Amino acid sequence: MTPIEDLVRRRIATEGPIRFSTFVDIALYDPDFGFYVAGGQAGRRGDFVTSAEVGPLFGACLAKYLDEVWKSLGEPNPFVVLEAGAGPGTLARSIRAAEPACRDVLRYIAVEVSAAQRAQHPGWIVSLESLADAKSYGPYHLVVANELLDNLPFNVAQQTSHGWMEVRVDIAEANDELVEVLRPLEMAVEYLPDDATVGVKIPLADAAVAWCDSASDLIDAGRLVVIDYLSPVAEMATGGDWIRTYRANERGGPALDAPGTQDVTAHLPLEGVLAHGAEPMIQTQADFLRACGLDALVEDGRRVWAERAHIGDLQALKARSRITEAEALTDRSGLGGFRVISWAYQN
Ligand SMILES: C[S@@+](CC[C@H](N)C(=O)[O-])C[C@H]1O[C@@H](n2cnc3c(N)ncnc32)[C@H](O)[C@@H]1O
Repeated sequence: MTPIEDLVRRRIATEGPIRFSTFVDIALYDPDFGFYVAGGQAGRRGDFVTSAEVGPLFGACLAKYLDEVWKSLGEPNPFVVLEAGAGPGTLARSIRAAEPACRDVLRYIAVEVSAAQRAQHPGWIVSLESLADAKSYGPYHLVVANELLDNLPFNVAQQTSHGWMEVRVDIAEANDELVEVLRPLEMAVEYLPDDATVGVKIPLADAAVAWCDSASDLIDAGRLVVIDYLSPVAEMATGGDWIRTYRANERGGPALDAPGTQDVTAHLPLEGVLAHGAEPMIQTQADFLRACGLDALVEDGRRVWAERAHIGDLQALKARSRITEAEALTDRSGLGGFRVISWAYQN
């Protein structure tokens, strides 16, 4: 039994069946044994590959986005950017390497809950544990979170013949295993469709909305941008595995298996996250990156590759890598299908 499973069992023994968010919170973020605390992280040598970890192209596009926001706000000095759920700081490094026009006035704050990952942040960023710590460095002009919302502890609803119920985690009397049990759903969740097939499970977006609310409180004039696995609930209601686990760059086992040894993430319902605020801009990641100038960056890569392929130096290989990175980042059945939601504030 993993130490985390032991903690989960003790919690159930004192409280009864626990909410799914409590299970995920312990499994991923327990301060002694949680998956992220024990060293789980994104990256090619890590447990899953995010857009930031595919290569520097994603950061190069984000650098252009930073410049667009900076210019739209009248080129503030300092230009204060917060990246939340920053992992080991890969996106920050790629943004800086792309040399955005705003670089000399850029103040970059990274919030990352895992100390093991914060320890890898480059020295030029301010590295913090929580949004609450970030308040004194604001107000922010841009808050960006790539693949954070899907990692916040989430609750789960399941359709039954009596309507939607909440999935909780319990210990089965029959075999002493951790099991899912159903309890009444205590809050009204408007976006859950009545006609979903019995058995369909949908992760709830309440933690994501609460996080967006806190993040937007840090902005006076500027934007909040979240990039994540988000799907229209009607699509999710037709079935599918919206709760996903990852271990060593492969899909992991069932969510309740060996807690603490695998990442547990949720594909969230788009309508749920949109409850954060009115009039957001919604794009697929592929369209967002193209609007940031991805095609021109790739063309540049093709040109350099054509010129230097025969030399085969680092510059040539980096240029060639842009082409394959672009394919991965814009593939609509994968990362390119992620949703980018941005809200603009003018307080
Ligand atoms: C899927 S990883 C994404 C990392 C990075 N953004 C990337 O794109 O490679 C999610 C990260 O969010 C962090 N995290 C989870 N909850 C957090 C919170 N409330 N505040 C800050 N970071 C958090 C996790 O520790 C993890 O490093």
